[in-house]
Amino acid sequence: MSGRALAKDQPASFAFTAEMTARLNQIIAKYPQGRQASAVIPALDLAQRQEGWVTRPAIEEIARLLDMAPMRVLEVATFYTMFNLHPVGKTHVQICTSLPCWLRGSNEVVKACKEKLGIGMGERSADGTFSLGELECSGACVNAPVAQIGDDYYEDLDYASTVKMLDAFKRGETPKAGSVTGRDGSAPAGDHLTLTEKPTPPAKQDFAAAKAAFEKAKAEAAAKAAAPKA
Ligand code: FES
Repeated sequence: MSGRALAKDQPASFAFTAEMTARLNQIIAKYPQGRQASAVIPALDLAQRQEGWVTRPAIEEIARLLDMAPMRVLEVATFYTMFNLHPVGKTHVQICTSLPCWLRGSNEVVKACKEKLGIGMGERSADGTFSLGELECSGACVNAPVAQIGDDYYEDLDYASTVKMLDAFKRGETPKAGSVTGRDGSAPAGDHLTLTEKPTPPAKQDFAAAKAAFEKAKAEAAAKAAAPKA
């Protein structure tokens, strides 16, 4: 994982657009009065969605808006690796290299990215189109190895499918997210090995007969109660 320090080159200023300001105000309104600092993560997310990365002026602006010390906002931004502290490419490709993905071949996925994009881990292409980064476990190990691009996960990747996916992005397309092998969610690859028999349908209930039996028992009980005691 690359270092979590702010980029040296920073823009002079930052301001949320009108649309982002409206979205942020909606988020802040969800928290009780005086607890607006709770909106710090979504605020950083909005800043990143607007600029592509989290800049120092954005951190300072968020601190001002949420009435926080800038250091507190910086702590959050540097802790969570989903916040980009350096400019990233228009298409930011992040590969999960944690153990399950590594066991399932993430090295080949990284290799394909490096070869196809001509950049190394933590680098951005000269034209700013692509950048490459590393992810910790993305919680999709069942479909490992996994790449995150934007808000989407691409799963079950190998060298060839990674190249194919990157070619699509290079053509300006956005390939369908999810399993590149066509797995349905995290269903097993190939045929099912368990629960193969047809499920037994639930027994059909005869509610009319049950009701009649109940009414009969009720009438019999009433008759017995009303009968003179011997
Ligand atoms: S290790 Fe890659 S998704 Fe969990």
